[in-house]
Amino acid sequence: MSQIAPQNIVILISGGGSNMAAIVKAAEQGGWQQKYGARIAAVISNKADAKGLVFAQQHGIATAVVDHKAFPSREAFDAELARVIDGFDPNGQPALVVLAGFMRILTPGFVARYVGRMLNIHPSLLPAFPGLHTHQRAIEYGCKFAGATVHRVTAELDHGEYLEQAVVPVLPDDTADQLAARVLTQEHLIYPRAVERLLAAAR
Ligand code: GAR
Repeated sequence: MSQIAPQNIVILISGGGSNMAAIVKAAEQGGWQQKYGARIAAVISNKADAKGLVFAQQHGIATAVVDHKAFPSREAFDAELARVIDGFDPNGQPALVVLAGFMRILTPGFVARYVGRMLNIHPSLLPAFPGLHTHQRAIEYGCKFAGATVHRVTAELDHGEYLEQAVVPVLPDDTADQLAARVLTQEHLIYPRAVERLLAAAR
């Protein structure tokens, strides 16, 4: 019998969800439930057709859709998103909110609600290239290295304490898609590692 307080994790996605899938597999294969009392309580998408929802359902994880287009403002969307997130934790707030390819800018109020407990992965070596089109911009700058960063979420876009980074080479004649694929394989290693480290620290 575990004496560890349960740690519910809610993952937010917008699309393919490969980082979410990497975290789910790490949780399953690494025995996070037994080791840390941690479970992926839900996967939530702002898009109903996000492919990652199917993977989550196949792994027995609850899913929900909060469609941003159904709300008149960012504040209204974020309020409903917070209500749905918190509904997946019996105590009212999950231990971790993990943004995994969740392509929405969040309001300061939403960020404050989960401060210290919300993570994001960004496909660049921050502080270089916050925002969109990171791989194309790295290529155009002539960067020799690119990568990804797992960081805590703050009100400032793609800022906050860095928890993990991974570096890959930018090869001559790389396209943005080729570089993105190389970076993504590293994302799948560093994101589960960062999450597990926080779970272990919270024991
Ligand atoms: C990942 O490369 C992630 O770093 C990026 O979107 C992709 C999602 O892939 N996130 C951002 O650009 C956030 N600003 P996935 O859905 O297969 O995990």
